[in-house]
Amino acid sequence: MKSFEKEVFDVNRELEKKNSYIAGILDATVNIIILRDRNRKLLYINKQFSKYFPNYKSIDEFDREHDSISELFDTDDDAYIDAKYYHENFDYIASTEIEHKVKITCRDNHTVFFKLTVTRSQLESSKDYYVIILADITKLELERRKNIQQERIFQQQAKMASMGEMIGNIAHQWRQPLNALSSLTVLLGIKHRTKGISDDDILHFKVKSNYIIQNMSKTIDDFKNFFSPNKSKERFMIRDTIDEIKIFIENSYLEYQIELVNRIDKNIEIVGYKNELEQVFLNILNNSKDAFQGLNGKVKDPRVTIDVFEFEDMIRIEILDNAGGVDPKIIDRVFEPYFSTKFESNGTGIGLYMSKMIIEESMCGRLVLENRDRGVVVIIQLPNDISF
Ligand SMILES: Nc1ncnc2c1ncn2[C@@H]1O[C@H](COP(=O)(O)OP(=O)(O)OP(=O)(O)O)[C@@H](O)[C@H]1O
Ligand SMILES: [Mg+2]
Repeated sequence: MKSFEKEVFDVNRELEKKNSYIAGILDATVNIIILRDRNRKLLYINKQFSKYFPNYKSIDEFDREHDSISELFDTDDDAYIDAKYYHENFDYIASTEIEHKVKITCRDNHTVFFKLTVTRSQLESSKDYYVIILADITKLELERRKNIQQERIFQQQAKMASMGEMIGNIAHQWRQPLNALSSLTVLLGIKHRTKGISDDDILHFKVKSNYIIQNMSKTIDDFKNFFSPNKSKERFMIRDTIDEIKIFIENSYLEYQIELVNRIDKNIEIVGYKNELEQVFLNILNNSKDAFQGLNGKVKDPRVTIDVFEFEDMIRIEILDNAGGVDPKIIDRVFEPYFSTKFESNGTGIGLYMSKMIIEESMCGRLVLENRDRGVVVIIQLPNDISF
């Protein structure tokens, strides 16, 4: 039979062994593990702690300088919790599984990010203890922050690109009105030198130039609107859009004696973006004019015909010219941005690109260009109400 002393000795040895196992495990984990009681008194810190904070060799050394571990938390970044949040929300942190993160400046001004976990446990009867675990997530966190930064740069670049596109589109759509304005002033100058200017001439000049300038300013709004997610649709007659843009092309159509045959039925209506559709028509009608211009009067009866067919819930618009058509070798490329066969000053090559984008991305339709008969036909198919 074992003596009582021997028994106590054995139990003690067994306990010490178990304790050393537990200490071994706690010290071998990569996380900082802290045990504290309800009154914030630290009871245990594992060895990892002194790896990050070599200034403190023991709990006593730490206790001498600090009341709580939270005093180590950095306060300069709202994405990470600080001492104030930690104490005010301690019960919440201990009861939730939501990830809480802290940022700490350790030795040598080295920044380390930790995931903070607090678990309540009852070691002795009815007494609450808290196990605080700080898991180093620096690598992950730096990667995540880098990705956010990257994402921001991408967004910024996308924004710049669409802004550049918008400015390009405005510049493109301003060319016709600028030409129209310049013709008006030249005309006024000629009249002044020859017949003299009447009150009527001035009035005519005023009304016309005002209209053009209003339209130029509208173009800016249209494109601002085009890039905004909550632009407004309206119900309008397709025929009206052609009537409204006539002023920008009538001079040049007159100059090249191009007949514009508008066969759109008055009653055909559509719900969509009127101004954008006008930009599209302007681009297409100008392309036909450019094509006739390039032929130097070789076509005897230059003509552009606009037809509209109505299906159940679709509208098909065909704009046909007889200006010779597009070389089949390049017809696949006409929608590429900056693809142009014209001299630099006459074409930037974004007219069709922009038109296709407006019809297909903004108005849920289709825009194609084909050679037909002795010219080009541009076919636009649109739902008669783009809201559906
Ligand atoms: N009606 C047409 N007849 C013949 N060729 C055309 C016609 N419409 C377009 N094209 C061809 O398609 C090309 C691209 O047209 P797009 O409108 O995109 O650019 P652009 O007219 O050259 O320049 P921009 O419109 O930017 O001033 C033109 O350069 C031309 O070669
Ligand atoms: Mg063009």
